[in-house]
Amino acid sequence: VTVQQITLHYAHRIFFTEGVFAFGNETLLRALRDEGGAAAARARRVLVVVEAAVAYRHRALLGEIEAWFAREAAEFVLSVPPLVLEGGEPCKNHWPNVEQVWAAIHDAKIDRHSFVLAIGGGALLDLVGFASATAHRGVRHVRLPTTTLSQGDGGVGVKNGVNFFGKKNWTGSFAVPWAVVNDFAFLESLPASIRREGIIEAIKVALIRDAAFFEEMAGQVEGLRALDSAVLRRVIERSAALHVKHICTGGDAFELGSARPLDFGHWVAHKLEPLTEFRLSHGRAVAIGMAVDLLYARNVGMLSAADAERILAVIRGVGFSLWVDELAARDSEDGAWVVLRGLEDFREHLGGELTITLVTAPGHAHEVHTMDPPAILAAIEELRTRFAEE
Ligand SMILES: NC(=O)c1ccc[n+]([C@@H]2O[C@H](COP(=O)([O-])OP(=O)(O)OC[C@H]3O[C@@H](n4cnc5c(N)ncnc54)[C@H](O)[C@@H]3O)[C@@H](O)[C@H]2O)c1
Ligand SMILES: [Zn+2]
Repeated sequence: VTVQQITLHYAHRIFFTEGVFAFGNETLLRALRDEGGAAAARARRVLVVVEAAVAYRHRALLGEIEAWFAREAAEFVLSVPPLVLEGGEPCKNHWPNVEQVWAAIHDAKIDRHSFVLAIGGGALLDLVGFASATAHRGVRHVRLPTTTLSQGDGGVGVKNGVNFFGKKNWTGSFAVPWAVVNDFAFLESLPASIRREGIIEAIKVALIRDAAFFEEMAGQVEGLRALDSAVLRRVIERSAALHVKHICTGGDAFELGSARPLDFGHWVAHKLEPLTEFRLSHGRAVAIGMAVDLLYARNVGMLSAADAERILAVIRGVGFSLWVDELAARDSEDGAWVVLRGLEDFREHLGGELTITLVTAPGHAHEVHTMDPPAILAAIEELRTRFAEE
């Protein structure tokens, strides 16, 4: 046997800005240039893919993109006009979309020194990220997430994928983006319910990683509930930083192990989303999933009752409901609680040993490898009794 080591270096860069294509804003220039920041020696080609809903809500966007590239033509060239694609989850269910992005990459003559830049929600970024990672075995990909959830969580990570065999993200890869640019101006056009989504992942990552950040949000429940732009921006920025810090320094960027601390509250959520036929959004499902795991942790003596109540009050305070009827769904044949099957699904999803992250105090996570069904069901019954009528 001969054994050699391969060591790769990646810089993961997130830029925060407002009005990225505006005259005088240099963020995108810095993002497209390499880590050192030197101007590119020769002009590089760029393909831009824009989510249709974003282009529609930001009427000037396509013109601003063309104008930006006209100004920066010495370094970066828009080789074909921006490709506008429908986004949202359905875009990940339609394989021809992948081929359409490949065709655009091909027509734009994108090579491994040029760029594919995607502007849209997490679903569109997953689609374009996957096409970019597989074209020419991976071309440079720059992401501009346009939802609170993708700016704070999904869009800043190192994964991409589309749905296949009816399974979410079955086809995909790990690929570190060349850069991520979070432009807060995009968030202004989001409907309130979608704008609220990102807050729950911020609370989640604070609970497992950063007590001070949790206290900060607890002190700003009113502003968060009102979806105040300044409060939201600060929370998204901190959430993105914590998510990426975990990915980059947690020792398992490409998820080879069985633990997935960023998936706190997600085993229930992953079950509730299909059970409700996706009527329940990811964020609302995660809020309920976290509530189950918080009361569970209290039931088994890992979390104090006072902390559990305070955390639940913050989650409700920012506008998330803690109950959905499907949480109590029973199998029509054997009467078993359907949600409990989420544990085995979650184990399969991660592979290896079941690993569930629980919170023992704000900012402190603890992993367990078994959960006690009666204590889970007691948590669910309590949520029903206290919150079902709201
Ligand atoms: N790659 C990862 O690591 C990772 C992590 C978490 C989640 N995800 C994926 O991200 C996706 C969810 O992303 P999402 O929450 O951004 O949802 P989304 O992409 O489905 O967008 C939600 C809705 O908002 C619309 N929209 C997007 N930007 C808008 C804007 N600026 N103004 C108005 N409307 C806008 C979209 O058209 C869509 O209808 C899922 O497919 C999930 O699997 C990926
Ligand atoms: Zn999530």
